[in-house]
Amino acid sequence: MNLERTKQIKAAITAVGGYVPETILSNQDLEKMVDTNDEWIVSRTGIKERRILEDPEKATSFLAIEAAQDLIATFNIDSTTIDLIIVATVTPDMPVAATAAYVASSIGANQAFAYDLSAACSGFLYGMSTSAAYINSGRYKKVLLIGADKMSSIVDYTDRTTCIIFGDGAGAVLFEPSPNEFGWEDEYMRSNGTERMSLRIKAGGSLYPTSQTTLDNGWHNLYQEGKTVFKYAVSEMAEASEQLLKRNNLSGEEIDYLVPHQANKRIVDATAKRLGLSDEKVLMNISYYGNTTAATIPLLLNDNKSNFKKGNKLIFAAFGGGFTWGASYLTWAI
Ligand code: COA
Repeated sequence: MNLERTKQIKAAITAVGGYVPETILSNQDLEKMVDTNDEWIVSRTGIKERRILEDPEKATSFLAIEAAQDLIATFNIDSTTIDLIIVATVTPDMPVAATAAYVASSIGANQAFAYDLSAACSGFLYGMSTSAAYINSGRYKKVLLIGADKMSSIVDYTDRTTCIIFGDGAGAVLFEPSPNEFGWEDEYMRSNGTERMSLRIKAGGSLYPTSQTTLDNGWHNLYQEGKTVFKYAVSEMAEASEQLLKRNNLSGEEIDYLVPHQANKRIVDATAKRLGLSDEKVLMNISYYGNTTAATIPLLLNDNKSNFKKGNKLIFAAFGGGFTWGASYLTWAI
């Protein structure tokens, strides 16, 4: 492969789509389910309501397909030209087979290969790294990256420290060779597996296969050590973003938008403060969607796509189970 040629291929986001289910689960609704209140939830997390996919027969693939179809319709994409589909998710339809393969067939992407990517709340950020690399290398021309999670399927609605945070949703972006000089610029990615028990679904994998014990103990639900996650997320999301800015000689003033994973408003605020960003540059949807895990970042892009201008400097940052985290830098190409 001609290295000089491939170096010149810049990956860009050329299309965006999103979907959230209609049903709203408000803080007031949660007050009737667990011992909590609107004031506590808003002040600790910034969340007022989240969306829930109520239909038990519909899974994460439904959300992902809706988001992909929104992208295809809005940007007039021929699905048979898509080379690869990646679905970042912690709530695949089934452990086997890949949700992405089902999504590909459902949207008519009959020339695509497809797989799932698991990196919890950093799933979309990691997926952007993978997608951009496929384009940069010259190997593929159209990569559809979807972040989708039906968090309501793994949340324990008797655990008040967790059930208030998460919601369901999906977002999608298309990566292609950039039509201009803008696109993927740089990234800073990290992980720390020694903290894997701090944010986890303990059972259902090879460590604790499903048994009466795992069922009786609720090990199939999402569990988090809230304080530990908070502490790490605040320091690592900010650190990764700061390192990335430094490496690219960028000041907070030069950044047009921070597109942060919506873990908790206080975590995002801490990152924005460390980068010296004013509020209007920090994209947020946590108050009305909650934390939709792999979907927060593409949903932010979808909700704000009409505001972006060619050449805008976007910084993405995420933190999630694993632990996984990082930040990336992209200039908007369309
Ligand atoms: N409603 C009311 N009170 C609640 C509550 C709720 N939903 N959940 C916990 N509390 C109580 C606690 O029991 C505790 O009471 P106590 O002092 O009598 O023991 C008190 O509120 C403070 O709890 P604490 O855990 O210290 O709250 P916190 O400020 O750390 O906030 C989280 C809790 C979960 C919101 C916070 O830790 C957090 O956001 N962590 C990160 C979670 C996250 O982002 N996960 C996704 C990662 S991508």
